[in-house]
Amino acid sequence: MSKIVVFGSHKGGVGKSTLLVSILVYLMRKGKKCAVLEGDDQNSIKDWLAERREQDIVPDVEYFECYTDIAERARKLATRFDFVLLDTPGRKSAEFRKALTCADYLLTFIEPGAQVEINTLSQMVNDVKTAQASLNPTMHPWIVLNRCSTDPRDQDATELRQMLNDDPDWLPVTRQRIHARKAYKQAYNSGRGVHEYQDNNGNKGRGEIEMLLQEINLI
Ligand SMILES: Nc1ncnc2c1ncn2[C@@H]1O[C@H](COP(=O)(O)OP(=O)(O)O)[C@@H](O)[C@H]1O
Ligand SMILES: [Mg+2]
Repeated sequence: MSKIVVFGSHKGGVGKSTLLVSILVYLMRKGKKCAVLEGDDQNSIKDWLAERREQDIVPDVEYFECYTDIAERARKLATRFDFVLLDTPGRKSAEFRKALTCADYLLTFIEPGAQVEINTLSQMVNDVKTAQASLNPTMHPWIVLNRCSTDPRDQDATELRQMLNDDPDWLPVTRQRIHARKAYKQAYNSGRGVHEYQDNNGNKGRGEIEMLLQEINLI
């Protein structure tokens, strides 16, 4: 069964594109047939792919873009691929709402401690719940805490997860966190995923991506 995975939020700079490419590379390495559908006209994935092609990194990526009938396009791709990873703009947008109608999974990201904009988050959650209540009752939405501190004394991520999970009006938060690591940034900047980026730090990133996907049963 193919899966459409939407990377979305009402906010930019939360890590959607960075984590999309690392998840993509991991899925390809596991032998999954993947397509990327770019629905963000800032074209972050196109830039990443240009760098990847410039450096002749294999495998190449099946890349598509669409800014109008995103859901139809994603569903069509899903007939040919195991996974369709759909990137959406970092703002409250029609693209995001359309993407919610076809998402099997929604991954949305928050950085703990960065002034969590509860208002932005609650509007996003509202869009998700509306889609679930009407057009897409089987979507699995998840909040992933990204850019968490690597300092074990830092409690921001724990407190935020507790706060969100205590209230059923929010979306579920994964146990697995993604920490702030240079490896994610550098892999992305060099046209790679964290699984193609070799250093100790990258190693931890690879583990985080794998555990995250296992936890949400994506793979
Ligand atoms: N886990 C992480 N560790 C380190 N840097 C990160 C991480 N996640 C995102 N970043 C950095 O944060 C910035 C915004 O990420 P990006 O993926 O472009 O966000 P979005 O697509 O949501 O707008 C980029 O500079 C990226 O390198
Ligand atoms: Mg982006």
